[in-house]
Amino acid sequence: MRVLGIETSCDETGVAVYDTALAGAAALRAQALYSQIALHAEYGGVVPELASRDHVRKLVPLIRETLAQAGMTPADLDGVAYTAGPGLVGALLVGAGVARSLAWALEVPAIGVHHMEGHLLAPLIEDDPPAPPFVALLVSGGHTQLVAVEAIGRYRLLGETLDDAAGEAFDKTAKLMGLPYPGGPQLAALAAQSDKVPGTPGAYRFSRPMTDRPGLDFSFSGLKTQVLLAWQGSDRSEATRADIARGFEDAVVDTLAIKCARALDAAGSDTLVVAGGVGANRRLRERLAAMCAQRGGRACFPRPALCTDNGAMIAFAGALRLQAGQHDDASVRAVPRWDMATLSPLAA
Ligand SMILES: Nc1ncnc2c1ncn2[C@@H]1O[C@H](COP(=O)(O)OP(=O)(O)OP(=O)(O)O)[C@@H](O)[C@H]1O
Ligand SMILES: [Mg+2]
Repeated sequence: MRVLGIETSCDETGVAVYDTALAGAAALRAQALYSQIALHAEYGGVVPELASRDHVRKLVPLIRETLAQAGMTPADLDGVAYTAGPGLVGALLVGAGVARSLAWALEVPAIGVHHMEGHLLAPLIEDDPPAPPFVALLVSGGHTQLVAVEAIGRYRLLGETLDDAAGEAFDKTAKLMGLPYPGGPQLAALAAQSDKVPGTPGAYRFSRPMTDRPGLDFSFSGLKTQVLLAWQGSDRSEATRADIARGFEDAVVDTLAIKCARALDAAGSDTLVVAGGVGANRRLRERLAAMCAQRGGRACFPRPALCTDNGAMIAFAGALRLQAGQHDDASVRAVPRWDMATLSPLAA
């Protein structure tokens, strides 16, 4: 089954074709992504109306480009999957409207995919995918969640952030240190400089929030205040900037690793799946891989490009559901707020 996936929930237009007849990562026949970062940069954050309008401009050309890359025509498609939520309602409506109309015209089924299920399943696109049950850490710009994945489609929330998401904490901290939007990857790059002379990794130590008590919830909003105080009292030299960034990154990575180990204990699992934009962070990947290996298990990540928003994860999640016989009626679905626990499992 060849499924077109469309992602337009926020500031990335993503399109991909996933072919269930092929094995492993080769099943991802083609993908294309257009990021609106430059459009929103001058505002320091995503402007919803600008995002919607840009999806309108970019989506159809990207679909053409992706199909050409796959050597396919629209008539070769067996289904269309699109992000139905959660996300910005105007942005969602663009992808949903195009996807639903295309499926109608081609007389193939369409399915609305949950964006976070897309992220969660992205590691399964890669070769040697893990099979449920496992624990998933979702760390993106809007979410930080630990989820017990009992089966595909059956998700039990173990813990989540009470305030800022991990990616949001990266972005806000980067902003207060004067780094351009979106700051997460830039802050990580700055932190890497701390390993080089004259940097001193460990010079700044920030707290590991909520690790001193039982539980699987997170709180990242206090960290940026700690960084702000350190930043204001510092000489702001290149080395100090790098050391502060490193202190922040270490605090987030440590906190996530401590809670992941606890979640694996709670779920009685040794397999951790990591997804969402912060999953692209090199030090987080190394730390979680080492932690899982030490327990005799493994940590599974998608390639960094599939950690942030993309069409491939939507094509894949949609293909699994369409293949199991699920599909939507003819309505255009856009669900800005949507609890992942309400999803239905794949047919047994
Ligand atoms: N290498 C990195 N280190 C730390 N953070 C990163 C890195 N790369 C990306 N990020 C962060 O990941 C986030 C973007 O990820 P993603 O696209 O999954 O989030 P989103 O789609 O905005 O949020 P959601 O999926 O929750 O709606 C941003 O906050 C960004 O700063
Ligand atoms: Mg996302």
